[in-house]
Amino acid sequence: MSTAQAENTRKVTTSRLTEMKHRGEKISMLTAYDYTSAKLVDEAGMDVILVGDSASNVMAGNVTTLPITLDQMIYHAKSVMKGVKRALVVVDLPFGTYQGNSKEALASAIRVMKESHAEALKLEGGAEIAESIQRILCAGIPVMGHLGLTPQSINKFGTYSVRAKEEAEAKKLIEDAKLLEDIGCFAIVLEKIPAKLAEKVARELTIPVIGIGAGGGVDGQVLVMHDMLGMTMGFSPRFLRRYANVGEIMTDAFRHYISDVKTGDFPNEKEQY
Ligand code: KIV
Repeated sequence: MSTAQAENTRKVTTSRLTEMKHRGEKISMLTAYDYTSAKLVDEAGMDVILVGDSASNVMAGNVTTLPITLDQMIYHAKSVMKGVKRALVVVDLPFGTYQGNSKEALASAIRVMKESHAEALKLEGGAEIAESIQRILCAGIPVMGHLGLTPQSINKFGTYSVRAKEEAEAKKLIEDAKLLEDIGCFAIVLEKIPAKLAEKVARELTIPVIGIGAGGGVDGQVLVMHDMLGMTMGFSPRFLRRYANVGEIMTDAFRHYISDVKTGDFPNEKEQY
């Protein structure tokens, strides 16, 4: 095996992500929620797989990420872990399982790690949840931060529009990002904030900054799989690039199958015993 091939199959770890930032190699990250798609994403060479609480929207059909439970996140994380060999797998702690107090946060974190065998967690928020993050880190669990548009706070924001456009919010975001780095987070996601602000944060931090709707000046990008595959047609924010029209391909296949069943074309003689 050549050095390049060995590098491509080498397990991604949190320290490897830091190395990537320092040598200027961009980090690729995508969501997955089930075994079959996680296996495909991993085999394609993705660096990080996020078992996002966006599963609440795209898998369960909820309007927000708030209803998804810890048990449901563990179910998705377990399924993903079975399909992944190389990527680092990060799991979202869902709404209501870490904001109350840091002991509760640690108990939730330990359940996810023990039951799913995932490798890291992501929590939304800055100074307000620093104590919870610290307690989780003390247990040896790597934590990825998440600032900017934090969907678990949608009822506070009232809209999914761009965050931190005003100076005060931008200042708080920079302070929070530095705090998350100082307390030991291994990376941060910045969601839907001005590109210039995200670039400044990425420049000032030594840990990787992964963006979604945060421009190209950060250390990596994350998207929701169903959005980038074109399976969530009603959702088309400016930052989203669609890499396929899987929704159309699936609908065509379903229609074709229905028609073949109705006409008796399926199954044919070779498709029976
Ligand atoms: O849950 C999720 O999919 C996320 C990404 C949007 C970063 O948190």
